Amino acid sequence: MDLTGVKAVVTGGASGLGNATARFLAASGAQIVLLDRDTARGTEQAAEIGAGFQECDVTDEGSVQAALSAAADHMGGLTAAINCAGIATAEKTLGRNGPHGLDSWKRTIDINLTGSFNVGRLAAEIMSKNTPDADGQRGVIVNTASIAAFEGQKGQAAYAASKGGIAALALPMARDLASVGVRCMAIAPGIFRTPMLESLGQEVMDGLAADVTFPKRLGDPQEYARTVGFILTCPYLNGSVIRIDGALRMP
Ligand SMILES: NC(=O)c1ccc[n+]([C@@H]2O[C@H](COP(=O)([O-])OP(=O)(O)OC[C@H]3O[C@@H](n4cnc5c(N)ncnc54)[C@H](O)[C@@H]3O)[C@@H](O)[C@H]2O)c1
Repeated sequence: MDLTGVKAVVTGGASGLGNATARFLAASGAQIVLLDRDTARGTEQAAEIGAGFQECDVTDEGSVQAALSAAADHMGGLTAAINCAGIATAEKTLGRNGPHGLDSWKRTIDINLTGSFNVGRLAAEIMSKNTPDADGQRGVIVNTASIAAFEGQKGQAAYAASKGGIAALALPMARDLASVGVRCMAIAPGIFRTPMLESLGQEVMDGLAADVTFPKRLGDPQEYARTVGFILTCPYLNGSVIRIDGALRMP
C-alpha cells in the first residue's frame, strides 16, 4: 500500500490499535503524529516509529486544538485523523452496589464519543483549507466504534452507547463535511489482541476466541491497521461502518 503524501494524526497512538495503525501507515509512506495522553509511552513509541508525538487529552478542546496545530506544523499539513483513543468500562445499569455511576457513564461517553467528535470537528477545520485532489477530497476521518455498538453485553451500557454514537456519527459527519471534501468512516472491531485484552490473561482470551466464527482467534491489530489503510486509499468509502470481527456475533 502506498500512502506517500498522507499526513495523519492517530489518537491513542501510544498503544494497541492506534499504535499498530501508526506503524502500518508510517511503513506505507505516510507522515504520522501520535496524539495520546500517555506522554512517556507516546514519546517512546513515536521515536521507534519515526513519527511525531503530541501530548493530548481528546476530551479537552484547547488540548486538541494545540496538538492538531502542532501536528500540522510538524507534517506540513493534515490529511487524515484516525481516532483510536478510548477506554473500556464495565458496569451494570443496576448492580449489587446500586445504580450505574453517573460519573463513570459521563467519563466513558466523554472520552469515547465526545473525544472522537472533538478531534474530528477540529481536524476537519484544518483539512478544509487543503488543496483538493482530483476527486475534490481534502481529508479523511476514521473513528473507532466496536461491535458493542450493535451487540452490547451485560455491563456495557455506557461503552455500547458511546460506540453506538460513533457508528451513528459516520453518516451525518460525512454529509456535513461533503461540502469541504472530507470523508468520515467508522470501523467496528470485534475482539483484538491489544494490551487491554492481554491484561485479561490467556484463559479469558482463549474463551473469547472460541466464540469467533472464522478465523477462530482474536483479531491482529495489523488487520485493523490495514482496514484504516484501505479506507484512506478508497475514496468511495464514506459515511458507513465497517465491521472487522471474523463474523463474531455476540449473543
Ligand atoms: N481491543 C479491542 O478488542 C477493541 C475492540 C473494539 C473496539 N476497540 C476500541 O479501539 C480503541 C483502541 O483500543 P485498544 O485496545 O487499542 O486500547 P488501548 O488501551 O491499548 O489504547 C488506548 C489508548 O488511548 C489513550 N487514551 C485514553 N484516553 C485518552 C484521552 N482522553 N486522550 C488521549 N488519549 C487517550 C491511552 O493512553 C492508550 O494509549 C478504543 O476506542 C476501544 O474502545 C478495541
